[in-house]
Formats: sequence, structure tokens, C-alpha cells
Amino acid sequence: MRAVHTVNDLRDALESAEQIGLVPTMGALHAGHEKLIEMARRECRTIVVSIFVNPIQFGPNEDYSRYPRTLEQDLEACARCGADLVFAPSVEEMYPLPQLTFVEVTRVSEHLCGKFRPGHFRGVATVVLKLLNIVQPQRAYFGEKDLQQLQVIRRMVLDVNLPVTVVGVPTVREADGLARSSRNKYLSEEERRAAPALYQALQAAVSGIREGERDVTKVKSTALEILERQPLIRVEYLEIVDPDELAPVSTPIGASVRIAAAIWIGSTRLIDNLFVNAV
Ligand code: PAJ
Repeated sequence: MRAVHTVNDLRDALESAEQIGLVPTMGALHAGHEKLIEMARRECRTIVVSIFVNPIQFGPNEDYSRYPRTLEQDLEACARCGADLVFAPSVEEMYPLPQLTFVEVTRVSEHLCGKFRPGHFRGVATVVLKLLNIVQPQRAYFGEKDLQQLQVIRRMVLDVNLPVTVVGVPTVREADGLARSSRNKYLSEEERRAAPALYQALQAAVSGIREGERDVTKVKSTALEILERQPLIRVEYLEIVDPDELAPVSTPIGASVRIAAAIWIGSTRLIDNLFVNAV
């Protein structure tokens, strides 16, 4: 698999490329990332996968240093899924100077994970804008698993008129419903057995709404009960939000909503979300 590590080499490699599709990742690739690459393969002529563990989106007490780095296997996965080029820059290549310019997508960044990870979406939006400027793709692919990230990027692209189409890709799950995530690697066997409760809780909320429950507190408590049965799980948030800016909705629930949650299992933080149409 062809990998380049500098902006100059990337520009050279893409000099005459057409219809570029970019799949930004932090590596430790799994079936979720692979689906993004495969989707890009179907829609674009030149597929670029970026692999960069972006320090500025991690808080001081987060997992930046222990985040899994598996470049060799990642290159194999990229080749298997039909990528044309991997861009794997160093931190010095991406941030040769102290970064003084940041992208802040207000409102969309403020709810859900934004409340618990101050500065996270500013770091994400900033690195994604840099990657879009470096690669200049026509299309860029992001997973719905990271719903707030997807909405932050969609809004950034609209607000600053970036000439790129953002494509959202449905969440890839394990057989028991657990959303695929690079962080699943951190789970012990016992924690892994508890983890599907997150998906089950979201599904219970979806069923409640489908069956006609419109009370936010009642829907939330049905889901929370499932999580609270698991002694290994601590709930960070579980919210019913509007699908655009992701602000919590009030009773009665109307139209389309997303149920989004973040939990801790031991020292691992997992997020997931489901869509439900309440009309
Ligand atoms: P990373 O966590 O590596 O994820 C890269 C892309 O894969 C994201 O768009 C994410 O939503 C998507 N993805 C992860 N798990 C998925 C799953 N189970 N199903 C479908 N898609 C999934 O997200 C990041 O990296 C970074 O924040 C990044 C955007 C690269 C900026 O640094």
C-alpha cells in the first residue's frame, strides 16, 4: 500500500488525481473504517485515507498516548478495501508551528460529548479543515457513530463554504450490537460482555418512542434502567436530541430525534446513538 508522510509528497502524488474521496481516520482500522473506505471506493476515483492521531482533540487526561497505533495492519486494511493512497503524517508535519488558528463550531459542539470533552470538537474541526485543505477532496466520509463529530463537520463545511460533499456512513456493529470502535480494544473480557448494554439501552428508547411514548423523562428512564443493571457501567450522558444541532428536545417528543449516549466501562469511554422518527 502506498503511504506518504508529508504534505509535499501527498500533493505530488495527487497532482493529476480526479474525483478524490477522503476518509479521515486515527488508524487502528476496523470494520467501521473499512465501510467508509468501501463507500468512498464506490463513489470516487481516487481514495485517500488519512491516518493521524490528532493530539489537539485529546484532553490532558485522555488516552492520546495509549491510543492504539497499528500502521502496518492499517496499510493492509487500506489495500484490501481499495484505497489508492494513505496519508500518515507525523505530528510535526501537521503542526510544524504552534497552531494559533482554530475552528470553533458553536452550538453543535456544546451538547453531549462537548460538555464532557472541552476543546475536543475544536481540535476535530481544526484538523479536519487542515486535512480537507491538504487533500482537497470532492467528497469526505465520516461515520454516524460519531454523530456529533459528523454534525460539527457538516456545519463547518456549510459555514465556511468548503467545496466538499460530506457523506455520513451508518454505524457498523458487532454481532451483539456493540458499535465497532478502536477503543473496544481497551475492554477486558468482562467489560466486553457488559458493553452491548449501551446498544440495548438505545434500542429500548427507540422502541418506547415507536410504541408512542412521547415523554422525554420516561423514555430516558427506560434506557437508563438497562445501563444501571450493569455494575461495570457508569453513564456519562443519555439524551434525546434534535438530529441537526443535537440539542436536547423537550416533552412531547416530535418528528425525528436521535438518542445519544456515552458510558464509561472501567477506564474506557464508549459512545453510540440511534435515529428514530417520532411522527
Ligand atoms: P476515528 O475514530 O479513527 O474514526 C474515523 C472515522 O471512522 C470517523 O468518521 C468515525 O465516525 C468512523 N467510524 C468509527 N467507528 C465506526 C463504526 N463503527 N461505524 C461507522 N463508522 C465508524 O473520528 C476520528 O477518527 C477523528 O476524530 C478524525 C475525524 C479522524 C479527526 O481526527
